Amino acid sequence: MSGPAPRPGILEIAPYVGGESALPGVGQPIKLASNEGALGPSPKAVAAYKTIAATAHRYPDGTCAELRRALGRQHGLDPERIVCGAGSDELIALLCRAYAGPGDEILYSAHGFLMYPIAARSVGATPVKAPESNLTADVDALLDRVTGRTRILFLANPNNPTGSYLPVDELRRLRAGLPDEVLLVIDAAYAEFVVRNDYSPGVELVDGAANVVMTRTFSKIYALASLRLGWSYCPPAVADVLNRIRGPFNVGAPAQVAGLAALGDVAFTDLARRHNESWLAWTTERLRDLGLEVAPSVCNFILVRFPAAAGRDAAAADAFLRGRGIIARRMGAYDLADSLRITIGREDEMRALVEALSDFVG
Ligand SMILES: Cc1ncc(COP(=O)(O)O)c(C=O)c1O
Repeated sequence: MSGPAPRPGILEIAPYVGGESALPGVGQPIKLASNEGALGPSPKAVAAYKTIAATAHRYPDGTCAELRRALGRQHGLDPERIVCGAGSDELIALLCRAYAGPGDEILYSAHGFLMYPIAARSVGATPVKAPESNLTADVDALLDRVTGRTRILFLANPNNPTGSYLPVDELRRLRAGLPDEVLLVIDAAYAEFVVRNDYSPGVELVDGAANVVMTRTFSKIYALASLRLGWSYCPPAVADVLNRIRGPFNVGAPAQVAGLAALGDVAFTDLARRHNESWLAWTTERLRDLGLEVAPSVCNFILVRFPAAAGRDAAAADAFLRGRGIIARRMGAYDLADSLRITIGREDEMRALVEALSDFVG
C-alpha cells in the first residue's frame, strides 16, 4: 500500500540534526554544541516568563506589538517593518515560501548556515552554493552565481559555523551587485557578540533598498533558544507579505514577555558580550598554543581544525571530549569534517575544554 507522496525535493532534505544535550552515563555534560548563551537567560527574562503560566489558556498577541515597539526603540527602527517569528528559522522558512518555488535558485555561501538549503528544498527551490575564501563569504563568487533564476541570497553575517564576517563595505558591494528582484537576507543571528568597527548587522542596507531583509534572534546573546523567538526588519512590502503567510499566533506569550525583559536588561547583555569577548580570546589562544588551527571568530563559538592523522583527527577529538563529558559539534554536514565547532561556555567549561584538548593533543 503506498501512501501520499510529498512534493518533489522534500525527500532530498537531510533533516537538520541539532546539537546533542546528553551523554550516556554523564550526569551533567558540558554542552558546547549549539552556540547557546554561556550565562543562561537574564534573571529578568526568567521572572517575566514565570508570570505567564496562569494565563496560558489565552492566545498571545499575534502581532507582538509591545516587543516590536521595544525593538523599534532600542534599534531606532519602525516597528511596522518588524516581523517576529518562532526563531529566525521560521523567518528563513517564510521568506523562502513567499519568494521562491520550483525552478528557482536560492544562493548562499559554501559553509553558510545549514537551514538555508533545507528551507530552499522545502519549497522545491534549488540551493546553490558559492565558494568561500579563507572560510569567509566571497562577494565576487556570490555575485558570479546569480542567474535569472536566483530569488534569494542568504548571507549569515557573521557566519555560523566559520565565525567569520564581511565588513559593511563588502555588504554594500554585494547589495549593489544584486539585481533588484533578488532578495538579500542578512542573517545577523550573532550580531550582538561582534565588537568590530567595520561590522554592521545591516539596518542601513534594509533602509536603503526594497530587496534587503535583516533577521535576528533571541536564541544567542539573549539565551532564550528554547522559547523560539526571532525577528526581522524588512522593507514595508516584505513585512506585509510575511504577515500574510505567518501563523496568526506564531510567537507564544512566554517568548514575547521574556524577550521583552531580556531586551530591557542591557546590563546583562553587556555582561554576556564581555564574557564572550574574554573567553573567546582566551580559548582561541590556548588552543592555538596547543598547535590547533582555530579560525578567527567574532561569535560565541570557534571552529577548530584537527590534523588528518588517525587518532588525531576531528572524530578522535570528538570521542575524546565525550569521554570527558564535553559535547562539541561535528561539522561533516558543513563540508568541514576535519573540524569541530565549539561554543564559548562558562569559565569552568572553557578550562575543562582546554585541559581535555591539551591531554588529547598530548
Ligand atoms: C546563522 C544562524 N541563523 C539562524 C539561526 C537560527 O536561530 P533561531 O531559529 O534559534 O532564531 C542560527 C542558529 O544556530 C544560526 O546560527
